[in-house]
Amino acid sequence: MTAIIPIPAQFQFDERRFSLSSETRIIVSGDSAEVFWIASFLAARLRPATGFALPVLGGIEPGAGDISLALTADDPQLGPEGYRLLATPEQVSLRASAAAGLFYASQTLRQMFPAEIESAAEQPGLDWWVPCGTVRDVPRYAWRGMMLDLGRHFFGVETVKRLIDLLAFHKINTLHLHLSDDQGWRIMIESWPWLALHGGSTATNGDPGGFYTQDQYREIVAYAAQRYITIVPEIDMPGHTNAALASYEALNVNDISPSLYTGIKVGFSSLAVHKEITYQFVDDVIREIAAMTPGAYFHIGGDETLSTPEEDYIYFIERVQEIVRKHGKRMIGWEEIGKTRLSPDTVAQHWWNKDVTAKAAAQGAGIIASPAARAYMDMKYHDHTTIGLQWTGSYTEVRDAYEWEPVELLEGVPPEAILGVESALWTETIFTQGNLDFMVFPRLCGYAEIGWSPRAGRDWESYRLRLAEHGKRLAGLGVRFYRSEQVDWQ
Ligand code: ACM
Repeated sequence: MTAIIPIPAQFQFDERRFSLSSETRIIVSGDSAEVFWIASFLAARLRPATGFALPVLGGIEPGAGDISLALTADDPQLGPEGYRLLATPEQVSLRASAAAGLFYASQTLRQMFPAEIESAAEQPGLDWWVPCGTVRDVPRYAWRGMMLDLGRHFFGVETVKRLIDLLAFHKINTLHLHLSDDQGWRIMIESWPWLALHGGSTATNGDPGGFYTQDQYREIVAYAAQRYITIVPEIDMPGHTNAALASYEALNVNDISPSLYTGIKVGFSSLAVHKEITYQFVDDVIREIAAMTPGAYFHIGGDETLSTPEEDYIYFIERVQEIVRKHGKRMIGWEEIGKTRLSPDTVAQHWWNKDVTAKAAAQGAGIIASPAARAYMDMKYHDHTTIGLQWTGSYTEVRDAYEWEPVELLEGVPPEAILGVESALWTETIFTQGNLDFMVFPRLCGYAEIGWSPRAGRDWESYRLRLAEHGKRLAGLGVRFYRSEQVDWQ
């Protein structure tokens, strides 16, 4: 069964097959270095399990048994991320208007082979075939994201790179890094070094801390960009700032630093909204991070400011919005920023309160849908799973994570204001790669489909069958996912 996740917008397969052989070549037409890179990425994914050489070649016509990649101007409706895939018994051709589309075409092609294709070890004796037919695929939403909380627990560069590869496999194009919280500051700021050196030294539960050097952050940004993923950095403020307050006395109202914090309460910390040094700090932090971030956005948090009076909150957010603009970025904040005066290029991220989200949308802000009860992957799957939380008041099984619709959920927000979907992994109880795999997969596969596939193409019964097959791919990729009883895993 051909089981592609996210399901393409249009596809038609027949009984015929195209098979890879030891003679297959991957042919790039045109001289785009970027397309060459995409072809090389595809070859590198197909080589280990097949054991085939799969040379990547340019400047020749594809022949029988080959896979070809080309940019084409004949189908502008494909947009920046759409693609066409044509498979005949003789050839497979991938076509797109822009490089990202070819990258996504190659992710679809990976998922058309037998699941063993994702094995890291050679699997001799298998027929490496794909069904013949056509795919024409364009994403529903431009924003298809995941958030990773590094504040509560820190994850190193290698874990983040592995996650980026798994996101790309599911056509997710945004990784939002929550780089600071009460429990930890996770990125070196050269002009305020104690943020990372002291504020990054621990984590929830007293677990080991850590932070990215600026070179490591740049390395993550570059690795993501090669996989068509934009990094959105978040520094949460004015609340969720204990790690910063503990690092610099001057940021506190009374000039006295609190201790580092290793618990899981929220809402107790606030920057000193009426001290000028606070805005020097904010300016320096945004300036240094913005300079390392090619993406258009800077996320300022702005959530759960229970220790900041409302008029102070409004004053602070409106001032910070100007600082973000000054450094050439568009501001994103959690939905609470809907209480403030927003500029029309600001984006609000819905997580809980529909009314305040609607206030942001009414001011022209784009909205990212991250409803906690559906899209928060720190929520337990059910009462038997040990890690995870349950503060939304319910469990989030695989079906709950899949079966919701942003337009219906965000009643009060015009559908055209919805930029897309972002799931979030908060990490109070998550601190190993195994924990991360278990909470993220397979729920992320469902969010990928909600973000990419047309609403009419989404259906739980179809999805659970495809997910059963997809589980073999995840296992081949070494992902220790949650084997929900809602799915008949193969
Ligand atoms: C949030 O969950 N406080 C954004």
